[in-house]
Amino acid sequence: MASLQKSFPIVARDFVHAGEASIHVQSILKAMRMDPALIRRIAICCYEGEMNAVIHGGNGQILLAIEADQLNLAINDDGPGIEDIERAMQPGYSTASEEAREMGFGAGMGLTNMKNNADAIHIDSAPGQGTRVTMRFALPSPAEGP
Ligand SMILES: Nc1ncnc2c1ncn2[C@@H]1O[C@H](COP(=O)(O)OP(=O)(O)OP(=O)(O)O)[C@@H](O)[C@H]1O
Ligand SMILES: [Mg+2]
Repeated sequence: MASLQKSFPIVARDFVHAGEASIHVQSILKAMRMDPALIRRIAICCYEGEMNAVIHGGNGQILLAIEADQLNLAINDDGPGIEDIERAMQPGYSTASEEAREMGFGAGMGLTNMKNNADAIHIDSAPGQGTRVTMRFALPSPAEGP
């Protein structure tokens, strides 16, 4: 698959436009005719990561990098960061605000969902340092010609 790099901005607490960056990523993958099951996994990770930046984090961006054999997704934000990453990864753990809960977020399942759908996930974060979530997806090698 051809190599490609793109970035999409994320604006903290902008619930009107929240999710649009993930829709852009999804439409790029669809245009590339990537396997729908793989697109779905990537889209879930992208959306959960984007919403976490909008709800808990700060302004930032989604970086999409597609190479021959892998796709990398980085979701960066300059928000307050995560104090205890291991605890944040626990299913059901959430610090979502009342406002976010009223919109249906705050089950504490986003990071778990990302972990389950990516081939690899890594979180870099510390209080006051923002958050960077990177996820990798293996891409199938193109079918050999005759
Ligand atoms: N980008 C971020 N910046 C700061 N804290 C974060 C960020 N992403 C996640 N967290 C912390 O990790 C917790 C768990 O995140 P997770 O996505 O699993 O659940 P949630 O966002 O609270 O709820 P859900 O995703 O189910 O709506 C959050 O409640 C928050 O405390
Ligand atoms: Mg979440």
